[in-house]
Amino acid sequence: KRGLETEFIGQNIEYFKSIDSTNTFAKNIAPKSDEGMVIISDEQISGKGRVGREWISKENEGIYFSIILKPDIDIMNASFLTQVAGAAMVSSLEKMGVESTIKWPNDIIVNGKKISGILTEMSAEIDQISYIVVGIGVNLYNQSFEEEIESKATSLKKEGYDIDKKEFLQRFFLEFEDLYKEFLSGDKESTISILRKKSAVLDKEVYIIDRTGKTKVYARDIDENGNLLVEKENGSIETIFTGEISIRGL
Ligand code: BTN
Repeated sequence: KRGLETEFIGQNIEYFKSIDSTNTFAKNIAPKSDEGMVIISDEQISGKGRVGREWISKENEGIYFSIILKPDIDIMNASFLTQVAGAAMVSSLEKMGVESTIKWPNDIIVNGKKISGILTEMSAEIDQISYIVVGIGVNLYNQSFEEEIESKATSLKKEGYDIDKKEFLQRFFLEFEDLYKEFLSGDKESTISILRKKSAVLDKEVYIIDRTGKTKVYARDIDENGNLLVEKENGSIETIFTGEISIRGL
């Protein structure tokens, strides 16, 4: 067995049997914590998903954790950390024999259904970042989805993969740290190349969802900052920085 090979990610772990949300806890302790500190819980009472959704987090069904980061970067670049986490996720899964793709910006997909989501939250003063919390949930064994979720979500177990929690975390922390360090040194190339190679949306017809409704576009590329380049029906190219897209079946 390999053990944890990182320099700082996950070298300090606070582990809970139960917690409201690892992200909320991480945000509370972040000002006094070192970079790389990880909060893990067996269950979350009020796990948070993106856009105010709930992230159902029952014991023995998934992995729920948050990483505290303190990068000295411009606030404009902070959302790239979500992309770093997504890239680290697909590449650690690949090393464990699981083929997965990324539905931009941050859903991890196995066999056409979601197995993992990322919620990045930050605190900044003026334009200086104080800390960033990257929260990740992975569906390992869930068997109890409600019908509506059932059609869109799955677990590694359901897709036929037996993944050891500890081994997964050791691999993920290492992949994440490698890509994160590269990003801090000003190089996004490895992350971008994984995002392109493992994209679930490139070259497909997708819908951009925003306040004005749904707009049909074609996903053409992921740029050097992790943004999605889409082609509108009138042929013009637009850069999508964040938000929600939908794609047939996903
Ligand atoms: C999504 O909506 O896809 C993002 C889900 C993020 C869930 C994780 S589980 C650990 C961390 N703590 C939370 O409350 N949410 C994130």
